[in-house]
Amino acid sequence: MSGEKSDGSLIKTPGQFIAIIVLGFLVPVLGVALLAHFVVTSSKKIDPDQSSLQASAVEARIKPVASVVIAEPGAGAAPAVRTGEQIVKQYCVACHATGAAGAPKIGDNAAWAKFLRGGLDQMLKTAITGKGAMPPRGGAADLSNYELARAIVHMANQSGGTFKEPSAPTQAAQAPERTGEQVVQAACFRCHETGLNGAPKIGDKAAWSPRISQGVDAVTRSAIRGHGSMPARGGLAELTDKEITGAIMYMFGRAGGETPSK
Ligand code: HEC
Ligand code: HEC
Repeated sequence: MSGEKSDGSLIKTPGQFIAIIVLGFLVPVLGVALLAHFVVTSSKKIDPDQSSLQASAVEARIKPVASVVIAEPGAGAAPAVRTGEQIVKQYCVACHATGAAGAPKIGDNAAWAKFLRGGLDQMLKTAITGKGAMPPRGGAADLSNYELARAIVHMANQSGGTFKEPSAPTQAAQAPERTGEQVVQAACFRCHETGLNGAPKIGDKAAWSPRISQGVDAVTRSAIRGHGSMPARGGLAELTDKEITGAIMYMFGRAGGETPSK
């Protein structure tokens, strides 16, 4: 201890000084190089055949054949609303940019005039159901009425129309909440009526009880997520969480069993 103090420094010669500087520089560089080498070689070790085991590939394989719409992960959150311009670019220009199949061409005021006269509501109605070569919702089944209206306004206003940007639907103006029975008819019946792929049958108390006993919230979350061949939200992405609970209660309640209080 006292010896160190009297020496003052560990570096005694210019040679040692240089060695320390060089090492101080080389050691971190070598460290980085080794790390980079490790990262590169370890990622190369993935056998190309194993790519078929990667999550996305597996997911694609186990995806239920019959599912129509799978809710995005992070379910529960409503999908982001797209602007009219985005929708038109993605779905409508295929026909409406060129006038393919007799579609009124964007910017062709004469072709749009008769549709504009009908008003936005009329155009929206027709676009929802489709007409002639115009497919329902322009072929994009997942567009909400609001998004569809925005897309129509975007095209119409470049073609002689002067429509206001439709206002976002408020909670109250949205489709009225469907009853459990209606939801089941629309979305759950096709599997749960017959017990397809092991779906607990509507009214089969023995099949439902153990699932309901996890608690209403848990079983609702399970239906929102989907699992096995049960598609997320029963394949109907627009269902609200409450509608799903209602549907579950309906399927359970038909057994004449006690309806859980929650
Ligand atoms: C496959 C081609 C095609 C696509 C894609 C398409 N349309 Fe059309 N659309 C047509 C045709 C054809 C007509 C004319 C229908 C008629 O009058 O017989 C039409 C007519 C319309 C009309 C007038 C309806 C009326 O009678 O009032 C609106 C509005 C419309 N389309 C909106 C859209 C929107 C919005 C999209 C994209 C989300 C879209 N279309 C995508 C082919 C298409
Ligand atoms: C494509 C077929 C299919 C459709 C459509 C479907 N289900 Fe299912 N469902 C299943 C199958 C299969 C199971 C059993 C899954 C399992 O236990 O692995 C199941 C299980 C469930 C369960 C039990 C989940 C659990 O954790 O035990 C609930 C709740 C449920 N479904 C609700 C619904 C509701 C509500 C709808 C309609 C909105 C619906 N399902 C539509 C096939 C379907």
